[in-house]
Amino acid sequence: MKRLVITIDGPASSGKSTTAKLVARSLGYLYLDTGAMYRAVTLKAMRAGIDLRDTQGLEGMANQTDVDIVPDPGGYRVILDGEDVTESIRSREVTRASSIVSAVPGVRRRMVEIQRRVGRRGGIVAEGRDMGSVVFPDADLKIYLDADLDTRALRRKLELESKGEDVDLDEIKRDIRMRDTYDSRRRHSPLVIPDGAIVIDTTDLSIDEQVNRVLTLVERIVGGDV
Ligand code: DC
Repeated sequence: MKRLVITIDGPASSGKSTTAKLVARSLGYLYLDTGAMYRAVTLKAMRAGIDLRDTQGLEGMANQTDVDIVPDPGGYRVILDGEDVTESIRSREVTRASSIVSAVPGVRRRMVEIQRRVGRRGGIVAEGRDMGSVVFPDADLKIYLDADLDTRALRRKLELESKGEDVDLDEIKRDIRMRDTYDSRRRHSPLVIPDGAIVIDTTDLSIDEQVNRVLTLVERIVGGDV
């Protein structure tokens, strides 16, 4: 059976990761979390004390950086220059700074190069902001997930709570709004609905419903209906 390239784009906390992970698992595909790659580069920059306004410094560092997403029984591990950073890239500081680092063209160039290398073989669910628009414009299936801000903020709050962090809902909303603005207004590869993408609003959908909608679309493609 043909191994497809499936892209899932959308704003923060729209359900992309959960959906992409489960769709990939159900199809036996690789889940490529490209946000995790930008987070890893961000972590490296922060550790190195690089000023986030220093575009050249960030680009130079990115070119010397290797980021890998390695499948493992629990999901996947994020490897930065040989070090497992799966957990440390999820801190609030990294989350905030990742919008700034990911807007730097040279950082994106390096990450896109790695993403395309991984995607070449097909059998991939690639999740991010520019997967269907820039990185894999010829993808077999492009999805754009969205949900209203209150729903996204609540999801993020529950996710943080499950990790033992109690953060004020309004603060989360502010963070998400700020990242949305950054990610969709930047000059290079902003968040857009890619040409040919199918938009799914997940505000009132359960995780099962989100996943099943995508899998139904996959079946249609594999069955030759579209
Ligand atoms: O999806 P996420 O929250 O893990 O993404 C972290 C940051 O990286 C986010 O601010 C947007 C950016 N990003 C991007 O610019 N392009 C991608 N393909 C994926 C994420």
